[in-house]
Amino acid sequence: KKIPAYLCPMLKATLLKATKAGGDVLQQYFNGSFEVTSKSSVNDLVTEADKNAETAIFSVIREHFPQHFILSEESGELVSDSNVKWIIDPLDGTVNFAHGIPICCVSIGVEQDGEMILGAVYNPFLNEFFFAEKGQGAYLNDKRIRVSAKTEMNKACMVTGFPYTWGEYTHSPIEVFEYFVKQGQPVRRLGSAAIDLCWVATGRFDGYYEHSLNAWDAAAGFLIVEEAGGKVTDFKGNRYSPYQRTLIATNGLIHEPLIDIVNGKY
Ligand code: IPD
Ligand code: CA
Ligand code: CA
Ligand code: CA
Repeated sequence: KKIPAYLCPMLKATLLKATKAGGDVLQQYFNGSFEVTSKSSVNDLVTEADKNAETAIFSVIREHFPQHFILSEESGELVSDSNVKWIIDPLDGTVNFAHGIPICCVSIGVEQDGEMILGAVYNPFLNEFFFAEKGQGAYLNDKRIRVSAKTEMNKACMVTGFPYTWGEYTHSPIEVFEYFVKQGQPVRRLGSAAIDLCWVATGRFDGYYEHSLNAWDAAAGFLIVEEAGGKVTDFKGNRYSPYQRTLIATNGLIHEPLIDIVNGKY
């Protein structure tokens, strides 16, 4: 009988090592001089740090698991018929990084047979390493974390994000943002989807929502939120999968009211 991959200590050790290696590269470049180029639009940036962090991550993974499937933002799919897939964002929060704002991270999720089994998010600038293993809880620097216990929607602290190019949505994200602002309710835009998710997992935020995400933005973070006792769905309330574009993550207690708000039912 096949041993589940999440029980394979080598897989976990490789994930931790690869995530740390990516974070080390980000630290080397941060606030220094590096090449910046645009992708889909003038402010959709990619830097030398994104690319070199990705290279460093790949080399750790390939050293131990040369056959695994890899999906990574800057290189796309490295297809294989392996049942293990690494979903990598070598630098989440590139715009922050390019402006010297230390809210950025490496994010790596590991999927086995279509199910996320491991996730790691590392912000080297705040020295915060988030990790979750399916069924084993979520951790920040080896300390168990849990989502908040806030039950009142109107006192909850929200975070959201916006895509580089205005993607598809059912109800205007600007109107939802405006709703919170006019209510006088705290709503933040940090600029890193992976950190937004991890900060829901620690209870700093009570809820996060965003449309037009890519698999690598949330692959690790969504498992971290779930393992911290939170709930992650799409805008309709279906359990989240990295292959869909909308995401709502909460402590579970304000999930239904947030779904309504995101869909324009105030
Ligand atoms: C972006 C960040 C941002 C989110 C964007 C993402 P990148 O990822 O996560 O918070 O709002 O939708 O594309 O490009 O910095 O890896
Ligand atoms: Ca990203
Ligand atoms: Ca990225
Ligand atoms: Ca990007």
